[in-house]
Formats: sequence, structure tokens, C-alpha cells
Amino acid sequence: MITHNHCSTYSLAISYKEGDASLQDKSMALAKIMGLPHIPPSRQKEFNSLLVYTENGLRIQLKHDRAIKKPQVLQVDFLSNALNYRRQHGGGLKQALARAVGIKPGVRPHILDATAGLGKDSFLFASLGCKVTMLERSPILAALLQDGLERAALSREIGETIIAQLSFIQCDAITHMMSADRNKKPDSIYLDPMYPQSNKSALNKLEMRIIREFVGDDMDSDALLLAALDYSGKRVIVKRPKGACVLADIPPSHSITMKNSRYDVYMNTGGS
Ligand SMILES: C[S@@+](CC[C@H](N)C(=O)[O-])C[C@H]1O[C@@H](n2cnc3c(N)ncnc32)[C@H](O)[C@@H]1O
Repeated sequence: MITHNHCSTYSLAISYKEGDASLQDKSMALAKIMGLPHIPPSRQKEFNSLLVYTENGLRIQLKHDRAIKKPQVLQVDFLSNALNYRRQHGGGLKQALARAVGIKPGVRPHILDATAGLGKDSFLFASLGCKVTMLERSPILAALLQDGLERAALSREIGETIIAQLSFIQCDAITHMMSADRNKKPDSIYLDPMYPQSNKSALNKLEMRIIREFVGDDMDSDALLLAALDYSGKRVIVKRPKGACVLADIPPSHSITMKNSRYDVYMNTGGS
């Protein structure tokens, strides 16, 4: 049974869309792995939160969202218009995130994305030509991510080019980095942990609110940075909201500042 690292008030069950026996089989298998109740479509109304298999993949359905008070849905979709647009018009090698992780002409670092979430940043790194290892500890996010990867791997457009660059491990990144093979260090380690809710967070993007509902705040981000600095090849990059303090009181080598957030970059001058 997989345990959930965040104590939340939601009731969560796993279900499927009526009419396709394979969806029922998949949802039963996931419920067993996650140790969650498996319910038929007729009982979905009884639950606030559901992981539902549909013909278009696995998705989270929330009955209501406190802030906007209507049902909300979230899934990992590497073929979405939004990701496609970001890939094609995001600024290529010049964009802040690409520069922060060390992508430049002729240089494509191997990146460890230690807080993969919905995999959006990893997808960007891979679309710019980097090999990416994604880590995610939340079993719910991991199930969504795995499902998104499996569907996108079948795509003619991005399957063999972008998705093939991504590998995924469900684990706690601190434990992983502390026990990983030091002869196979990634060049760059990227950290984008959840940060404690502020008043402004009511305005945050819907998907971040839904993720927060399941994952909570990542209260061990200081320890995550320390483990990353210890394991890093060339650099560690931390995404922080604008005005937030640096993690673990450790000043970065430099920061790249954007409108609402910044990347704190820690260069490994030891070059190990
Ligand atoms: C803000 S989201 C990341 C969003 C991601 N950058 C994207 O592009 O979709 C933070 C994620 O990091 C994960 N996380 C935080 N600390 C972690 C750790 N120590 N190990 C693995 N995952 C972690 C959380 O479960 C959450 O899903």
C-alpha cells in the first residue's frame, strides 16, 4: 500500500467512466496499488475527490473548489495546447528557465527534476533537447504523471523525440539523492517545491490550488536543497516566488528574476 504524505480533509476514491471494461480494470488495479476505495460510476457523487479513468486518460475530479465553487478537473496532458504553445513560443534557449538550468547553444545538461509535479518544466527541458530524470513523491501526482507519459509516448509528434528523453521515478527526492550513485550525478538539479500559502495564493493558478489540496506545502524544502547541493554535478536551481526568502538561509550564486518568481542558482564551483 502506498501512503499519502499529506493529511487532508478530502475523501478520495478511484473510479472509471462507464462503458469500457478496460477502464474499470485499470482503475481497480490503481485502487489496489494505492490502497484507496474503488467505486462504480453510480457512487461518484458521494466523494469530494476522485481519480477517474476515462477514454482520455486518468484525471482528478474535485466536486467543488472552495475558491471557485464548481467541479474541477486536472490531468497531465503533454499534448495540450498550452504546453505546445510554451514549447513553440516560450523563447527557446533564451528563456529564463533554460538559462537557469544551464542550457545554451551546444550544451544540453542532464537534469534531475526533483519535484516533477505535473511534469511541465521537465517537458520543457526535454523539448529543448535535455535528458531529464523526474522524481515525484505524491502517489496521486505520480499516477497522473505516469498516465500522461504513457499516453504521450504513443504520440507520433512527441513520443520518440521529447517523451523518450524523460524518465520517471516515484520516490522521495531527498532519500533518492542521499542514496544515489555518485558516479552518475546529473549536471543540474531543479527544485520547484510548493511554498506556504500566502494571501495572494487565492489568485494562484487553479492547478496549483488542486495540487496543494493533495500535496500540501512542502515543509522539508530546506532539507531538499541541502541534499541537492550535496549531490549536485554542476548546479542546483530553485524556483521561488517573488519576495520569498532563500531556502535554508543559503545565498545562491546568482538569481534570475521574473515578474512573479525567480530562479536561485547555486553553482558547484568544486566541479565534482
Ligand atoms: C509546485 S509542484 C512542481 C510543479 C512542476 N515544476 C511542474 O512543472 O509541473 C511541487 C511538487 O514537488 C513534489 N515534491 C516536493 N518535495 C518533494 C520531494 N522531497 N521528493 C519528491 N517530490 C517532491 C510535490 O509532491 C509536488 O508535486
